[in-house]
Amino acid sequence: MSDLREALDALLEDVPPARLADSVQRLIADYRSGRPADEPLIRTMVDATAYAAYRMPATHAAVAKALAMLPPIEPRSLLDVGGGTGAATWAAVDAYGPLDATVLDQVPEALRLGERIAKGRLAARWQEWRLGEPLTEADLITVSYVLTELTEDDQRSLVAEAGAAARQALVIVEPGTPEGYRRILTARDALIAAGWTVAAPCPHQGACGMQGRDWCHFSARVNRSALHRRLKEARLGHEDEKFSFVAVTRNQPGAEGRVVRHPAFRKGLVTLQVCQPDTTVGPVLVPKREGARYKAARDAEWGDQWPPHPDES
Ligand SMILES: C[S@@+](CC[C@H](N)C(=O)[O-])C[C@H]1O[C@@H](n2cnc3c(N)ncnc32)[C@H](O)[C@@H]1O
Repeated sequence: MSDLREALDALLEDVPPARLADSVQRLIADYRSGRPADEPLIRTMVDATAYAAYRMPATHAAVAKALAMLPPIEPRSLLDVGGGTGAATWAAVDAYGPLDATVLDQVPEALRLGERIAKGRLAARWQEWRLGEPLTEADLITVSYVLTELTEDDQRSLVAEAGAAARQALVIVEPGTPEGYRRILTARDALIAAGWTVAAPCPHQGACGMQGRDWCHFSARVNRSALHRRLKEARLGHEDEKFSFVAVTRNQPGAEGRVVRHPAFRKGLVTLQVCQPDTTVGPVLVPKREGARYKAARDAEWGDQWPPHPDES
């Protein structure tokens, strides 16, 4: 993250926040509306700069956290579909090292800005592409915060195309809202039907045990820069980006559950909400007398596997 933060700080050094404020407010309203976009939401270089300043650290943090929940993969190539200014590409390179990376997007200004941010720090091809045009194969494909802008038909066709073009893994990330979660569930069903194995966050291939009462999402901490704080008129030095995601791979499914909320701590007792391999979701109580298990529960975080992998405990 530090490299991206430095690159963004360098880019934004000379940009007066007032120049970005209108774009930031419009983008916030557009993204919050949750409506599919009938024209690109990022339309100009100022919009792209505003997006990079106020959203890119958060989408980067969400993708980084999602990738950290994947089983081991060794991708050499990456296709970042609807990649915009390249947040998911940064996260993938952070996770796996240098990749033969291609960022695809319909908005040339976003690509040009992404290329400028990446210059000298991260190598990638930046290519104009519109949904409907073919995708070339890649070991890893990311689709980060894109479905939210598409109609249901377009979401279906993008998920099918990306599923057909991914060789090792496909990771789809959406806002951590009930609607984002529903889009993820639909994509998950389609990918299972196409023969993929769900590798994260679910510890099973069955129906989601949260449906009807809750929505599955996770949280990534993002430190705000001074400009970020000014743009969002925010006081806190950080924000928590909520996201939903599905990652599919060719790996065998793991046997551990997944912690799906912040753990709750009471004196001598940790309560973890765990999604289990048998598809149930519910509390796991770990009292102090359980010694090493209690210590592991105290260290557990939202998104971790439970019980922890033997080499982590
Ligand atoms: C919210 S931005 C996400 C950008 C980036 N993936 C990230 O996580 O920061 C959504 C991106 O999807 C792109 N997009 C939306 N509809 C598209 C389409 N029909 N064809 C190509 N790109 C599209 C937009 O141009 C935009 O850059």
